[in-house]
Amino acid sequence: MNDKQLVALQAAKYVKNGMLVGLGTGSTANYFIEELARLQKEEGLKITTVASSTISALKAESLSLPIVALEHIAHIDLYVDGADEIMPDMTLLKGRGSDLVKEKLLAKAATQFIAVADASKLVKRIGQNFAIPIEVIPFAWQLAKRSLEAASGRGELRPNAAKDGLWVTSHGSYVLDMHFDETITARNLHDLISTTPGVVEHGIFYGLTTAVFIADNGIVNERWAQ
Ligand code: 5RP
Repeated sequence: MNDKQLVALQAAKYVKNGMLVGLGTGSTANYFIEELARLQKEEGLKITTVASSTISALKAESLSLPIVALEHIAHIDLYVDGADEIMPDMTLLKGRGSDLVKEKLLAKAATQFIAVADASKLVKRIGQNFAIPIEVIPFAWQLAKRSLEAASGRGELRPNAAKDGLWVTSHGSYVLDMHFDETITARNLHDLISTTPGVVEHGIFYGLTTAVFIADNGIVNERWAQ
């Protein structure tokens, strides 16, 4: 069993009968979805799920997990998702894919949000290994970019996979992938990007994580917020 699978299985131990569970997106979240389906089939677990992306919804449906649409929920019990970067204070960077709007809504709506990852995701500062994905309203991308550049941001619109057009998220936004001055704290960066006109959402998950589970060479470490 690899570390991503191991940590996903650990998070699944916190799923109880009757819960409404948020499903993340990505390879680690996929292992969690598969484990929920196994628990439902083999141990009679009774839950309802809500997905952070179409791809995770399709996976849940294919495994016969009961699923409700995001617009029908106001609160969830538990959200489990992966991350691209994890800081010591549990701030996350997410959204390498196309679904960070729903991911952040579910993280905020959850009583408990457990981030699951292997040790390769641990960083000292947000933006260490990846650019910060910033979803912008398509017609506002240039104005938003200029505002962010005035605050040390450097980056470009993300191209699509074929590099013959622009990346469009599941929310219909363009994505600016930007780097910022290393001396800006994650909290200040979060506040700065959140208050920039034209920004729909961004990949810094600040103050949302209840626990971080990290698997490192077969050993899972659980860290819970105080
Ligand atoms: C998608 C995400 C993913 O959770 C993140 O990219 C981690 O993916 P993986 O589990 O495949 O390493 O934030 O928006």
